[in-house]
Amino acid sequence: MAKNILIAYFSHGGENLVDDQIVDLGENGNTKIAAKLLQEALKEKGFNANLFEIEPLIPYDRSYEGTLARSRQEYQDGAAPLINDGPNGYQAYDIVFLGYPNWWGTLPGPIVSFLRDHDLKGKTLIPFVTHGGQRFLYSLETIQKEAPQAPLLEGFAIAAPYMSSAKIVIDEWLKENLEKLA
Ligand SMILES: Cc1cc2nc3c(=O)[nH]c(=O)nc-3n(C[C@H](O)[C@H](O)[C@H](O)COP(=O)(O)O)c2cc1C
Repeated sequence: MAKNILIAYFSHGGENLVDDQIVDLGENGNTKIAAKLLQEALKEKGFNANLFEIEPLIPYDRSYEGTLARSRQEYQDGAAPLINDGPNGYQAYDIVFLGYPNWWGTLPGPIVSFLRDHDLKGKTLIPFVTHGGQRFLYSLETIQKEAPQAPLLEGFAIAAPYMSSAKIVIDEWLKENLEKLA
Protein backbone atom coordinates (compact mmCIF):
# COMPACT_ATOMS: atom_id res chain seq x y z
CA MET A 1 0.00 0.00 0.00
CA ALA A 2 1.24 3.52 -0.79
CA LYS A 3 2.67 5.33 2.18
CA ASN A 4 0.96 8.44 3.51
CA ILE A 5 3.25 11.43 3.23
CA LEU A 6 3.00 14.73 5.09
CA ILE A 7 5.13 17.80 4.41
CA ALA A 8 5.00 19.91 7.59
CA TYR A 9 6.96 23.15 7.48
CA PHE A 10 7.54 26.44 9.19
CA SER A 11 8.60 29.44 7.14
CA HIS A 12 8.86 33.03 8.24
CA GLY A 13 8.58 35.02 5.03
CA GLY A 14 8.51 38.78 5.57
CA GLU A 15 11.87 40.50 5.79
CA ASN A 16 15.04 38.45 5.55
CA LEU A 17 18.67 38.99 4.73
CA VAL A 18 19.55 38.27 1.09
CA ASP A 19 23.15 38.95 0.04
CA ASP A 20 23.56 41.19 3.09
CA GLN A 21 20.53 43.28 2.12
CA ILE A 22 17.20 43.25 3.94
CA VAL A 23 14.58 42.09 1.42
CA ASP A 24 10.86 41.47 2.00
CA LEU A 25 10.11 37.94 0.78
CA GLY A 26 6.36 38.53 1.08
CA GLU A 27 4.16 35.60 2.07
CA ASN A 28 6.39 33.06 0.36
CA GLY A 29 9.36 32.42 2.57
CA ASN A 30 12.13 30.19 1.26
CA THR A 31 11.03 27.11 3.19
CA LYS A 32 7.43 27.49 2.02
CA ILE A 33 8.67 27.62 -1.58
CA ALA A 34 10.84 24.53 -0.97
CA ALA A 35 7.90 22.66 0.61
CA LYS A 36 5.69 23.38 -2.41
CA LEU A 37 8.44 22.34 -4.83
CA LEU A 38 8.86 19.11 -2.88
CA GLN A 39 5.14 18.40 -3.11
CA GLU A 40 5.26 18.95 -6.90
CA ALA A 41 8.41 16.86 -7.33
CA LEU A 42 6.84 14.00 -5.34
CA LYS A 43 3.73 14.21 -7.51
CA GLU A 44 5.85 13.92 -10.65
CA LYS A 45 7.19 10.65 -9.20
CA GLY A 46 3.70 9.37 -8.41
CA PHE A 47 3.58 10.21 -4.68
CA ASN A 48 0.81 12.25 -3.12
CA ALA A 49 1.84 14.38 -0.18
CA ASN A 50 -0.16 16.83 1.92
CA LEU A 51 1.23 20.21 2.93
CA PHE A 52 0.81 21.55 6.46
CA GLU A 53 2.08 24.94 7.59
CA ILE A 54 3.22 25.14 11.21
CA GLU A 55 2.23 28.58 12.51
CA PRO A 56 3.01 30.18 15.86
CA LEU A 57 -0.15 31.53 17.51
CA ILE A 58 1.67 34.83 17.92
CA PRO A 59 3.26 35.46 14.52
CA TYR A 60 6.84 36.64 14.29
CA ASP A 61 7.38 40.24 13.39
CA ARG A 62 7.50 40.95 9.70
CA SER A 63 10.68 42.96 10.25
CA TYR A 64 14.01 41.17 10.17
CA GLU A 65 15.24 42.89 13.34
CA GLY A 66 12.05 42.04 15.25
CA THR A 67 12.22 38.38 14.27
CA LEU A 68 15.90 38.24 15.09
CA ALA A 69 15.30 39.65 18.59
CA ARG A 70 12.39 37.34 19.47
CA SER A 71 13.97 34.22 18.01
CA ARG A 72 17.27 34.93 19.79
CA GLN A 73 15.44 35.12 23.10
CA GLU A 74 13.54 31.88 22.36
CA TYR A 75 16.79 30.19 21.37
CA GLN A 76 18.49 31.30 24.59
CA ASP A 77 15.52 30.19 26.71
CA GLY A 78 14.97 26.92 24.81
CA ALA A 79 11.40 28.18 24.38
CA ALA A 80 8.77 26.43 22.31
CA PRO A 81 6.05 28.96 21.37
CA LEU A 82 2.42 27.86 21.11
CA ILE A 83 1.52 26.74 17.59
CA ASN A 84 -1.63 25.91 15.60
CA ASP A 85 -3.37 22.55 15.93
CA GLY A 86 -1.76 19.74 13.95
CA PRO A 87 -2.89 18.40 10.58
CA ASN A 88 -6.08 16.34 10.29
CA GLY A 89 -5.53 12.61 10.37
CA TYR A 90 -1.96 12.99 11.62
CA GLN A 91 -1.88 9.44 12.97
CA ALA A 92 -2.25 7.96 9.47
CA TYR A 93 0.98 9.45 8.10
CA ASP A 94 3.92 7.07 7.62
CA ILE A 95 6.44 9.68 6.47
CA VAL A 96 6.78 13.22 7.77
CA PHE A 97 8.98 15.66 5.85
CA LEU A 98 9.80 18.47 8.25
CA GLY A 99 10.93 21.75 6.65
CA TYR A 100 12.38 24.75 8.47
CA PRO A 101 14.83 27.62 8.14
CA ASN A 102 18.08 27.29 10.05
CA TRP A 103 17.67 29.77 12.90
CA TRP A 104 20.62 30.33 15.19
CA GLY A 105 22.25 27.18 13.90
CA THR A 106 19.35 25.00 14.92
CA LEU A 107 15.55 24.60 14.84
CA PRO A 108 13.18 27.57 15.00
CA GLY A 109 11.02 27.46 18.15
CA PRO A 110 7.80 26.46 16.29
CA ILE A 111 9.52 23.30 15.03
CA VAL A 112 10.54 22.38 18.58
CA SER A 113 6.88 22.87 19.53
CA PHE A 114 5.72 20.62 16.66
CA LEU A 115 8.09 17.86 17.74
CA ARG A 116 6.88 18.13 21.34
CA ASP A 117 3.19 18.19 20.34
CA HIS A 118 3.26 15.28 17.88
CA ASP A 119 4.11 11.67 18.50
CA LEU A 120 6.51 10.49 15.80
CA LYS A 121 6.73 6.90 16.98
CA GLY A 122 6.57 4.56 14.01
CA LYS A 123 6.90 7.37 11.46
CA THR A 124 9.95 8.18 9.36
CA LEU A 125 11.05 11.77 9.81
CA ILE A 126 12.83 13.49 6.91
CA PRO A 127 14.07 16.99 7.76
CA PHE A 128 14.92 19.56 5.10
CA VAL A 129 16.35 22.99 5.71
CA THR A 130 16.81 26.33 4.01
CA HIS A 131 19.74 28.30 5.35
CA GLY A 132 22.12 31.21 4.98
CA GLY A 133 25.21 29.00 4.63
CA GLN A 134 25.21 26.67 7.63
CA ARG A 135 23.02 23.91 6.24
CA PHE A 136 21.52 21.75 9.04
CA LEU A 137 24.26 22.67 11.52
CA TYR A 138 22.99 21.55 14.98
CA SER A 139 19.37 21.07 13.98
CA LEU A 140 19.54 17.31 13.44
CA GLU A 141 20.91 16.77 16.96
CA THR A 142 18.11 18.93 18.32
CA ILE A 143 15.54 16.84 16.43
CA GLN A 144 17.04 13.67 17.88
CA LYS A 145 16.84 15.16 21.36
CA GLU A 146 13.22 16.27 20.95
CA ALA A 147 12.00 13.19 19.04
CA PRO A 148 14.30 10.31 19.99
CA GLN A 149 11.69 7.74 18.93
CA ALA A 150 11.54 8.83 15.27
CA PRO A 151 13.74 7.08 12.72
CA LEU A 152 15.55 9.96 11.07
CA LEU A 153 16.44 10.10 7.40
CA GLU A 154 18.41 13.17 6.37
CA GLY A 155 16.73 15.20 3.67
CA PHE A 156 18.18 18.10 1.71
CA ALA A 157 19.56 21.56 2.41
CA ILE A 158 18.91 24.57 0.18
CA ALA A 159 20.99 27.72 0.52
CA ALA A 160 18.83 30.86 0.60
CA PRO A 161 20.80 32.72 -2.13
CA TYR A 162 20.34 29.74 -4.47
CA MET A 163 16.61 29.19 -4.20
CA SER A 164 16.51 29.16 -8.01
CA SER A 165 18.35 25.80 -7.80
CA ALA A 166 15.95 24.36 -5.24
CA LYS A 167 14.20 22.09 -7.72
CA ILE A 168 17.52 20.60 -8.82
CA VAL A 169 18.49 19.87 -5.19
CA ILE A 170 15.11 18.26 -4.50
CA ASP A 171 15.16 16.15 -7.67
CA GLU A 172 18.69 14.94 -6.88
CA TRP A 173 17.66 13.94 -3.37
CA LEU A 174 14.57 12.11 -4.67
CA LYS A 175 16.63 10.24 -7.22
CA GLU A 176 18.86 8.90 -4.42
CA ASN A 177 16.10 8.18 -1.92
CA LEU A 178 12.97 7.32 -3.84
CA GLU A 179 12.92 3.65 -2.81
CA LYS A 180 12.81 4.69 0.85
CA LEU A 181 9.44 6.37 0.24
CA ALA A 182 7.80 3.38 -1.43
C1 LIG B 1 16.17 34.79 12.96
C2 LIG B 1 17.05 34.20 11.90
C3 LIG B 1 18.17 33.46 12.25
C4 LIG B 1 18.97 32.87 11.26
N1 LIG B 1 20.04 32.13 11.65
C5 LIG B 1 20.78 31.49 10.70
C6 LIG B 1 21.90 30.67 11.07
O1 LIG B 1 22.25 30.55 12.26
N2 LIG B 1 22.56 30.02 10.09
C7 LIG B 1 22.22 30.13 8.75
O2 LIG B 1 22.85 29.51 7.90
N3 LIG B 1 21.17 30.91 8.38
C8 LIG B 1 20.45 31.58 9.31
N4 LIG B 1 19.38 32.37 8.92
C9 LIG B 1 19.01 32.46 7.49
C10 LIG B 1 17.78 31.58 7.17
O3 LIG B 1 18.01 30.24 7.55
C11 LIG B 1 17.44 31.59 5.68
O4 LIG B 1 17.32 32.90 5.22
C12 LIG B 1 16.17 30.79 5.38
O5 LIG B 1 16.13 30.44 4.02
C13 LIG B 1 14.89 31.53 5.74
O6 LIG B 1 13.77 30.71 5.45
P1 LIG B 1 12.26 31.24 5.45
O7 LIG B 1 12.17 32.32 4.41
O8 LIG B 1 11.46 30.04 5.09
O9 LIG B 1 11.94 31.73 6.84
C14 LIG B 1 18.62 33.02 9.89
C15 LIG B 1 17.50 33.79 9.54
C16 LIG B 1 16.73 34.39 10.53
C17 LIG B 1 15.52 35.23 10.13
